[in-house]
Amino acid sequence: MLPATINIFEKAARKAGRILARDFGEIENLQIQSKSVGDFVTSADLKVEQSLLETLQYYYPNANYLTEESGSIKGKEETIVIDPIDGTSNFIHGIPHVAIVIGKIVDDEITDGIIFNPILNEFYWASKGKGAWCNNKRIRVSKRQDLTECLIGTGAPFGGRIYSDYYKELENMSKFTAGVRRLGAAALDLAYVSTGKIDGFWEKDLNLWDVCSGVLIVQEAGGRISEPEGSDWTTKSRDILVSNTLIHKKLIKNLTLL
Ligand code: IPD
Ligand code: CA
Ligand code: CA
Repeated sequence: MLPATINIFEKAARKAGRILARDFGEIENLQIQSKSVGDFVTSADLKVEQSLLETLQYYYPNANYLTEESGSIKGKEETIVIDPIDGTSNFIHGIPHVAIVIGKIVDDEITDGIIFNPILNEFYWASKGKGAWCNNKRIRVSKRQDLTECLIGTGAPFGGRIYSDYYKELENMSKFTAGVRRLGAAALDLAYVSTGKIDGFWEKDLNLWDVCSGVLIVQEAGGRISEPEGSDWTTKSRDILVSNTLIHKKLIKNLTLL
């Protein structure tokens, strides 16, 4: 049986997911028919978030909300964190690698989280102490130890977020691993570490809504989370390094010996 919180998050995500999937279908047409794709996407982000809030606020009327599109909504109890579409650039380009993210934080600790890709119907969830799951199957991080066999995800910075050390980080990671992947949705990068599809992931300057659910899912799947140089990750951190635990120290070395 699903924990009560995950049940509610799933209900909210599946309802909002229908809106996301419908608009995704439209965007494939719009790509050919219209130049106003950007406006359309903004409206999809807002519509999905509104739908999520409507369901969640019914069940959690007193919660604080931290959302990407509506900002903070002050409440009295736990904090519910929402990213209505993680992977908006993928969405705009008709790439079906997108997700809805909902997480719950109590006293600075992530207690529950879901990541849902409504196009591929992949529903990832974790509750503290209850393991990590995808579509009713328990998920685990990979067992790879040899970096030359490992695929590492990253979020390549763009625009104003570019920092010069990134290219050295990328060089090290490319040189010593089986390759680097830039998949375009940080939440799903963490979900993919949790299923062992990729073995590690790093990105700087992320928001809590990008990673909150993924952090718990990775931990419950046996993975490790820290800041890229090895210090503890907290809900205030903006930079993250994720791994299957076994290769964590080696990844820190690649990110610090620049
Ligand atoms: C973005 C995605 C992307 C990451 C960016 C995020 P958004 O979120 O997760 O993979 O590289 O840092 O901002 O804007 O699509 O919700
Ligand atoms: Ca995001
Ligand atoms: Ca988003």
